[in-house]
Amino acid sequence: MAESEDKKQEQGGQSDGVLEIKNVTKRFGPHVVLDDVSLTIEKGKTTVVIGPSGCGKTVLIKHLIVLLRPNAGEVYFKKQRIDHLSESELSKIRTHYGFLFQGGALFDSLSVAENIMFPIRQHYKITNWSEAEEVVKTKLAMVGLDGFQNYYPANLSGGQRKRVALARAVALNPEVILYDEPTTGLDPIRSDVINELVLKLQRELGVTTVVVTHDMTSAYKIADRIIMLHNGKIVADGDAEHIRDHPHPVVQQFINGQVGEDDLAVLRMSGTISQAQFLPRDFE
Ligand SMILES: Nc1ncnc2c1ncn2[C@@H]1O[C@H](COP(=O)(O)OP(=O)(O)OP(=O)(O)O)[C@@H](O)[C@H]1O
Ligand SMILES: [Mg+2]
Repeated sequence: MAESEDKKQEQGGQSDGVLEIKNVTKRFGPHVVLDDVSLTIEKGKTTVVIGPSGCGKTVLIKHLIVLLRPNAGEVYFKKQRIDHLSESELSKIRTHYGFLFQGGALFDSLSVAENIMFPIRQHYKITNWSEAEEVVKTKLAMVGLDGFQNYYPANLSGGQRKRVALARAVALNPEVILYDEPTTGLDPIRSDVINELVLKLQRELGVTTVVVTHDMTSAYKIADRIIMLHNGKIVADGDAEHIRDHPHPVVQQFINGQVGEDDLAVLRMSGTISQAQFLPRDFE
């Protein structure tokens, strides 16, 4: 029943997909990280990707912008196949994307204004500087930091740095924004500021949003749709209620923050190892 609901939602989205991956497999050496994954990201919606650390969330969203290429399968942006494009062709496609990657730091040697200008300068020759300054001002105002143009990242708090990174991600008025763990390392209040900003950017710019997070409070707040990855596959796909009530044990373990049987087995094993280390000496 739940499986068919997951399948139905996956197929239902295909008509209005901005981003689509079809039967993507990604391996690093013998390690299969994505195993024949298909996913359609719907226009104007916020899709949240959850799953345990190391399950392939970052690898998945890097495929959406072809920062990683699949071993098998296809990636589409607005019905155009993009996984086999050259880097210069991809660079043009990427002007439609904003992205905020995990640990995606600001450039420390550049001011806040220069950081936000950076993606614009990468793609366009700026001739009208007052217009460029106006863009920076608008983007900073959007994240509540107009006036911080001349600050350097070292003089900002962690939450402010994330907000500047967000302003930079939307510098080119993207149609799609990809966020990898935007609230990691922030306290609950600062995390909620980021959640509100993600929602605001989606409402005001009408962007299609994909967010990777461990944070279920954040996921429930911002998601139209939540996808859970496990062992290289999508094991759950639906709205918050669907995920909350999902019968798959790994989904329940993850959303309730419980340790799974596999992890327990590792912990039990490490217990035995430390005993083995101490016992012989104690008895010598
Ligand atoms: N460039 C790479 N080369 C080799 N292995 C990689 C590479 N990138 C990712 N991996 C492996 O792929 C797996 C998935 O990594 P990924 O970064 O997508 O995990 P994640 O779900 O984002 O985890 P986290 O929640 O900790 O960020 C990991 O086992 C990782 O070691
Ligand atoms: Mg990651």
